[in-house]
Amino acid sequence: MADTRLKVGLVGCGGISGAHFAGWQKLNPECQIVAICDIQEAALQRRGTEFSIPKEQWYLDHQEMLKKADIAAVDICVPNMVHEPITVNALKAGKHVLCEKPLAPTPAAIRRMIAARDKAGKLLMCAQSARFERSSQTMKAYLDTGALGEIYYARSHCLRRRFIPGWNKGLSFIDRDYSGGGPCIDIGVHVLDTTLSFMGFPEPVSVSGIAPCKLGKRKDIRGWWGEWDRDAMTVEDFAVGFVRFDNGAAMSLECSWLLNIKEKEYSRIILCGTEAGAEWPALTLHGETAGSLTDTQLSFNDDRVGGHQSEIQAFSQAVLNGGESPVPAEQSLKVLRILDGIYRSYAAGKEVKV
Ligand SMILES: NC(=O)c1ccc[n+]([C@@H]2O[C@H](COP(=O)([O-])OP(=O)(O)OC[C@H]3O[C@@H](n4cnc5c(N)ncnc54)[C@H](O)[C@@H]3O)[C@@H](O)[C@H]2O)c1
Repeated sequence: MADTRLKVGLVGCGGISGAHFAGWQKLNPECQIVAICDIQEAALQRRGTEFSIPKEQWYLDHQEMLKKADIAAVDICVPNMVHEPITVNALKAGKHVLCEKPLAPTPAAIRRMIAARDKAGKLLMCAQSARFERSSQTMKAYLDTGALGEIYYARSHCLRRRFIPGWNKGLSFIDRDYSGGGPCIDIGVHVLDTTLSFMGFPEPVSVSGIAPCKLGKRKDIRGWWGEWDRDAMTVEDFAVGFVRFDNGAAMSLECSWLLNIKEKEYSRIILCGTEAGAEWPALTLHGETAGSLTDTQLSFNDDRVGGHQSEIQAFSQAVLNGGESPVPAEQSLKVLRILDGIYRSYAAGKEVKV
């Protein structure tokens, strides 16, 4: 009998790979990670042992792993700056690709990835796990009924008071060469992608924003995730952007690792429509009926599947059933055009076209 299992090669056995391994394991035996790759022997050793991957299927070079004919899909969990080359190589080798967020740190890189995808005729999906959280899916299903009317404004926040990911000296999220950017690229990408999916991915036209580093280089500021190298801090610690869309709608985005606010951290999206408003992840609706203001609570049954699990499931189903990418790269391109627009606007000191 033909083997119809989806065989996957995973590249990058660091922090987030744990959630991916767990997600793929839940889909076993329909899907299976059959090979792993990392440039660090210790990372291969750790994940290979933890998830019982035979040692002969551990690779230090992803190009060697891609030669394995039985791998149909590649799951990429490497630092942002190597998303593009590994994705392009995987597509060239005829593999479908699930790649961690951001799909790449610049719009130009994403355009090249789209070209490689089209040439290969394979699926390319960005692992935007927040969009696959139960609360996001519940909100999206409700919004798709059109109950909010025309959504003409959204506020999108992902703010932390003192959580800066400064670990892995020399290989860290605070180093632009490694990450491509600060909280915009690290956490803003999640809440922005989710907001745009709620709004139906309108076409962004222009962005005005700032992306300074105000606290991240100060020695008197402490982080609740521990110390970081102030001299290696080459990214923003806070960003705010105002985005105009071609349908007349607008949104604001605020993201930060270090900000003098009351809360330790929170993510929130506020949507304002002509018929009602909504808040995520609170899942509340705010409107007016027959002269009364109404506040309604949405809920979901507690059959919870986490965002990573749900995203991996959606990717595998699309591959196995020949469907469309659940997160088309064109959507990820809109996300990065906006984030890149904030950086360019800050550098130029004015609103920029995106
Ligand atoms: N969706 C989420 O919630 C979420 C959370 C954390 C990280 N991420 C994303 O996941 C990616 C990885 O982040 P992380 O926290 O796991 O980082 P990490 O530094 O813990 O792990 C990255 C791993 O990739 C390996 N690597 C680097 N270059 C490689 C190459 N050329 N070939 C093979 N392996 C290579 C490193 O040795 C390391 O083991 C990033 O893009 C990040 O934005 C997503």
